[in-house]
Amino acid sequence: MLEVRGLKVAYGGINAVKGIDLDVRAGELVTLIGANGAGKTTTLKALSGLLTPAAGSVQYDGQDITGTPAFELVRRGLALVPEGRGVFARLTVEENLAMGAYIRKGRDPQSAITADCDHAYTTFPRLAERRKQLAGTLSGGEQQMLAIARALMCKPRLLLLDEPSMGLAPIVVQKIFETIRAVASAGVTLLLIEQNARLALQTCDRGYVMESGLITLSGEAKALLDNPQVRRAYLGE
Ligand SMILES: Nc1ncnc2c1ncn2[C@@H]1O[C@H](COP(=O)(O)OP(=O)(O)O)[C@@H](O)[C@H]1O
Ligand SMILES: [Mg+2]
Repeated sequence: MLEVRGLKVAYGGINAVKGIDLDVRAGELVTLIGANGAGKTTTLKALSGLLTPAAGSVQYDGQDITGTPAFELVRRGLALVPEGRGVFARLTVEENLAMGAYIRKGRDPQSAITADCDHAYTTFPRLAERRKQLAGTLSGGEQQMLAIARALMCKPRLLLLDEPSMGLAPIVVQKIFETIRAVASAGVTLLLIEQNARLALQTCDRGYVMESGLITLSGEAKALLDNPQVRRAYLGE
């Protein structure tokens, strides 16, 4: 579904991503782990059209999407839940969800959009109780739930998630990961960036390890969990 070859991304003279290959097959749950500053967010931004690669290619559904802008990719079913959530703080929960469905206006009947909104509230009862509340006044966990729910409103086939557990209490992290598994079970393909390497590898099918802009290890998530190098560097053993 996603084929990345020789991807390089730079900020001015700083090479943040130095030529990586990465594949996500349809239906897979794949994680990209690595230390702070490794280049994970930069990679996701390039894949979702927010940054233009300096070199390399990205194929999505067999088509070259290198350099295609984000709004066009969202239209084609590739959505990003950004680091730090990025909910519209001064809009209500309800309005945030409506914004997520914006690209479907005129394409899908309002009844379908309303049904998906209801589905989001069933998945996240906490959001249902707060539908008229301003997003900026939600807790961190609720904002993360809203960010995921909003991204799902555009009916993505491939969802990119940047550090959904960041700054959240363990019990909230459990809830977020339950949701991620449910989204995957519903048939959405997922690429997940995580600092919590253990949880990410326990949740996903396959993983990639990124260090200083390069992929240094990849494989089945179970194998990576057993890998001594991964255990030392990322699982605190
Ligand atoms: N907007 C930016 N301008 C310049 N350098 C940046 C910018 N964003 C990130 N970087 C640098 O790129 C490298 C990779 O950052 P990032 O992709 O955010 O890493 P990660 O998400 O793995 O923590 C870091 O060295 C970071 O300082
Ligand atoms: Mg990051």
